Amino acid sequence: MTNSSSIAVIGAGYVGLIQAVGLAKQEHNVLCIDVSEERVNQLQAGVPPIYEEGLEDLLGEVIEAGRISFSLDIITARDCNTFFIAVGTPTDDKTGNANLSYLYSAIEDVSTIAPNGAVVVVKSTVPIGTCERLQNRLDELVPNKKLAIVSNPEFLREGRAIQDFFHPERVVLGGNNKNAIATIRDIYSAFDEAGVPFVVSDWFSSETIKYAANAFLAMKVTFINEIANLTQTVGGDIETVSKGIGLDSRIGEQFLRVGPGYGGSCFPKDTLALATMARRHGVQQQILEAVIAVNDNRRYMILRRVEDILGQNLRGLRVAVLGIAFKANTDDVRDSSAISIIHTLLDEGMVVKAYDPMAKYENNDHNYTQSTSIEDAMNGADLTLIVTEWEEFKDYDYNSQLQSVQQAKILDLRLSLKPRQLELADWNLNFIGINSDTK
Ligand SMILES: NC(=O)c1ccc[n+]([C@@H]2O[C@H](COP(=O)([O-])OP(=O)(O)OC[C@H]3O[C@@H](n4cnc5c(N)ncnc54)[C@H](O)[C@@H]3O)[C@@H](O)[C@H]2O)c1
Repeated sequence: MTNSSSIAVIGAGYVGLIQAVGLAKQEHNVLCIDVSEERVNQLQAGVPPIYEEGLEDLLGEVIEAGRISFSLDIITARDCNTFFIAVGTPTDDKTGNANLSYLYSAIEDVSTIAPNGAVVVVKSTVPIGTCERLQNRLDELVPNKKLAIVSNPEFLREGRAIQDFFHPERVVLGGNNKNAIATIRDIYSAFDEAGVPFVVSDWFSSETIKYAANAFLAMKVTFINEIANLTQTVGGDIETVSKGIGLDSRIGEQFLRVGPGYGGSCFPKDTLALATMARRHGVQQQILEAVIAVNDNRRYMILRRVEDILGQNLRGLRVAVLGIAFKANTDDVRDSSAISIIHTLLDEGMVVKAYDPMAKYENNDHNYTQSTSIEDAMNGADLTLIVTEWEEFKDYDYNSQLQSVQQAKILDLRLSLKPRQLELADWNLNFIGINSDTK
């Protein structure tokens, strides 16, 4: 059955594009609008502008079926009655707040063409109170159209975004217009039929759920990283500790893996925006502020591990950084911890060659280059630093590089080589959160 109602998705990035192709796969007619001409041209040619497993095939399939189209021009969405807004809400560097200029611009564009009674769904992550303000703005711009704002925060994980679209753990909807919420629930009927829990609330609770969820996950990551500093220094193995904690069903195993600190396009900006808005309202979130500070310091802990291995004078020493994306299976480098680590090492005068299977990162520092292979990155290296948990790094035949490195030393920030310690016996293999003196 083809669903005849037309849906517009505004913003063809990691969230908007997945939403658009996912809805098209569920037999809705979808128009996806973006302001980037390059992006729209690529999409019209069936080329995804971002890397996400399975996206290219799915995009080809829904284009072939004639259920999706792409446009630069908002006027082409005039026959749509539902508008999903998925534009970026990046950090405002001056205040730490979320920058809502793209969102307001998109809402104003939609107000000019949306038909009476249309529903405008906010998928972008926004500070608590934003949807109410957007509703007021629409009522002021087009009082006769009765457009309704619904909050519908996105929880997909880059790297498994398509899987997350089709199998969400919950759908959160917030608003004060029952008909508008019913319209969106109807669009999501496939999830309802599959028994996915729906949490239906007011705008404020819905917006808070998104920020609080990210803050909680960031806290879990940071918590285990701090415990890892303890096992590293005093004794023990963080992997066993994580397992022992995570098997408690009240805690859960996910997000308890030691690593280089959280990064990416969501946690850093959302934790900062939540902490900033809470201060503005006089309800400082002290736990969250500690999480942000501890995570910011993580790079220095890693620098000290590098000094443990190479000595205090790092100037001129060469490091191969494996992994640039903020996590495996994505090309997203926004606020990646790998990049803050790269700069921390460059500041010490190290020569950095970084490699990533998908992500690209350029900068003008003459001591930095991006390699196109693991071999090139490791050639002449004094240290190989594994930052991202790509399968390619887990499985790589490091022994084949024993002759080409300057020093056979690895620091693995993801513990991905732990099961291969025997095979890598010719290497000085180091981890974080593991004290090698522990008996
Ligand atoms: N990336 C994630 O994993 C993720 C997960 C959950 C929630 N979110 C939230 O979703 C929102 C979008 O994130 P993203 O990662 O998809 O961002 P993105 O930067 O990948 O995509 C945003 C897109 O919007 C386009 N755009 C900007 N202004 C526009 C306008 N006025 N009209 C049309 N298009 C416009 C941009 O050109 C860009 O292609 C953010 O609020 C983010 O916090 C992201």
